[in-house]
Amino acid sequence: MTASHRVDRLWPDAARDLDLDAAMAGFEPGPMPEGRPLVAINMVTSIDGRAQLGGTADGLGSRADRRLMRLYRAAFDAVGSGSGTLRAAGLWMRVGDDLAERRAGEGRAPNPLGVVIAGGGSVPVDAPWFIGDEPRVLFIGAGNALTQVPLGTELLRSPDERPEPHWVLERLHERGIQSLLLEGGPRLNASFLEAALIDEVYWTVGAHLLGTDALPMIAPLPGARKPRHGHLSSVLRHEGELFLRYRFEAPASIGP
Ligand SMILES: NC(=O)c1ccc[n+]([C@@H]2O[C@H](COP(=O)([O-])OP(=O)(O)OC[C@H]3O[C@@H](n4cnc5c(N)ncnc54)[C@H](OP(=O)(O)O)[C@@H]3O)[C@@H](O)[C@H]2O)c1
Repeated sequence: MTASHRVDRLWPDAARDLDLDAAMAGFEPGPMPEGRPLVAINMVTSIDGRAQLGGTADGLGSRADRRLMRLYRAAFDAVGSGSGTLRAAGLWMRVGDDLAERRAGEGRAPNPLGVVIAGGGSVPVDAPWFIGDEPRVLFIGAGNALTQVPLGTELLRSPDERPEPHWVLERLHERGIQSLLLEGGPRLNASFLEAALIDEVYWTVGAHLLGTDALPMIAPLPGARKPRHGHLSSVLRHEGELFLRYRFEAPASIGP
């Protein structure tokens, strides 16, 4: 039995006091791009745009936000994160029993494929992310010293120092993955933005002002760049918190 979280839908089709699960019924990412998985990023920040509080994201979002995270995950084929987040906070990227059951009833794997993208740095292979029945893929950079991973994890070594986003998506596409939800962190998000590979952004604005120098949702990239204009597709409100969904068209090119 899951707790009921109440939300107002502000956009589109305004409606008050809905159950969050009901408000999200029928949610699916898309439309799907041709020839590669769709990529969405899901992040929570403070009002002033900070994505870390005391070194992790803990405390930025409410229980309703954590439920929303699972509802988003349940709609995706794969859920991924950078190794910085694994190192900072550990990872738990499953959907929970009720949503796993729902996915299984729809003929899908109970949990999305788990994805961690590491470069040359350490990967804590004793982290809980490596435990469990759901399949997992760990991407590592060419020079990473790691050679062995816990049973149930596929290890894919990139030809580059850091797995390049297009290369990662090709490997996932070969495995039948049509949609990837990235749950951070800011540095990995930045590399997907730089590669023009962010199709959707799910942004929770927590009702806090921090005033710190913590990382924002997307780590700053060097140099000037063209803005990417998004289309606002939905807005939910839960108490002081906003749940925003933006869609981005594929750009002809990106860069200065
Ligand atoms: N607010 C939120 O919603 C949210 C969500 C997630 C995380 N966070 C927070 O963000 C912080 C971690 O963020 P982060 O930016 O340091 O870590 P991250 O984005 O999770 O991981 C960055 C690491 O990923 C590896 N990597 C592999 N391929 C890469 C590529 N193409 N581009 C960039 N990195 C690549 C690199 O590992 P190597 O070092 O091995 O080269 C890099 O250091 C934590 O405090 C975490 O709690 C917040």
